[in-house]
Amino acid sequence: MNKRNFLSAVSLAVASLATGSAWADGNTFKIGLILPMTGQQATTGRQIEAAARLYMAQNGDTVAGKKIELIVKDDTSVPDVTKRVAQELVVNDKVNVLAGFGITPSALAVAPISTQSKTPQVVMAAATSSITEASPYIVRTSFTLPQASVALADWAPKNGIKKVVTLVSDYGPGIDAEKFFKERLTFNGGQVLESLRVPLRGPDFAPFLQKVRDIKPDALFVFVPSGAGAAVMKQFLERGMDKAGIKLIGTGDITDDDQLNDMGDGAIGVVTSHHYSTYHPSAANKKFVDAFQKANKGLRPNFMAVGGYDGMRVIYEALKATKGNGGGDALLAAMKGQIFESPRGPMFIDAQTRDVVQNIYLRKVERKEGQLYNVEFDVIKDVKDPGKAR
Ligand code: DHB
Repeated sequence: MNKRNFLSAVSLAVASLATGSAWADGNTFKIGLILPMTGQQATTGRQIEAAARLYMAQNGDTVAGKKIELIVKDDTSVPDVTKRVAQELVVNDKVNVLAGFGITPSALAVAPISTQSKTPQVVMAAATSSITEASPYIVRTSFTLPQASVALADWAPKNGIKKVVTLVSDYGPGIDAEKFFKERLTFNGGQVLESLRVPLRGPDFAPFLQKVRDIKPDALFVFVPSGAGAAVMKQFLERGMDKAGIKLIGTGDITDDDQLNDMGDGAIGVVTSHHYSTYHPSAANKKFVDAFQKANKGLRPNFMAVGGYDGMRVIYEALKATKGNGGGDALLAAMKGQIFESPRGPMFIDAQTRDVVQNIYLRKVERKEGQLYNVEFDVIKDVKDPGKAR
């Protein structure tokens, strides 16, 4: 090839690349899904990615004339990585929406980027109350710890649990759980004897549980993030806390459906409060669970999967409502106020707070059809995040 031919071949290639990407930008809708796919929170990433892919398989990958492109990035649940990945997704990939966020520090690290670039940030997992206040572009489809904790603090004193020790992971959601559980229990005439906090990374529960054994409360209230529940349960049982007359209670993160079935019969009878159980008895949930398990070698969807599935729904519906033409502000407006039936039950996105309003269920671990499940026995309907009222 002579020089001239070579140059024209190069310029042709460049031109076709340019038109290729112009075409892609005009006709694709990009969702940057940032998740912990490795490290301590990897189960959260696996659940949410599987749920997002299921939603796309069920609802198609073309919406309002746009081809949906899902770009999954692993942030290893290190907030500096989450931030860098979000920046790359916005600047280089020009994503239309950012989504995912396995832990609170990751969601918070990205909030300024969402605000500056006017990119809707759909929080599918992280659950500290204040997250939605960190950017006007944040919409949440998971839950909040105050939402889940208050229901349990109403249930406990009516069921013989007056003196409680709390044990939480020492960061946003744990501190929310500790605070809102204690306030409400005290209001209801109960008492928190001691509030213990364990590090988020590599926690050793043993010394804390020994302390709880010595204090001998009616119950131990626990919050640990998804994926850490089995370790707490194992040590609680190994130390014979249940036999010493101490009940285990907590938000549903502790009897996480991702792990529950492997926790053994020692988990039977544990009461928790949460927004989702795999065992939730509705036709919509049965359909969701069956399809999820079929697509994922029998993996049971947990509350993280539901946050991801519903988050995709919120994005799809916003794109439909804006007829495929929406920029960040139009999409955000179309996300606010969405109301629908989730596998968890009815839910909506509060237009004022951009946070999820949903039922909170009281559940007890039981063996059903040979498996351990969180079986719902009571419901508090349409719970707004109690953290927002102050
Ligand atoms: C958070 C993470 C979790 O895994 C969970 O179950 C609840 C809250 C969080 O970091 O916000």
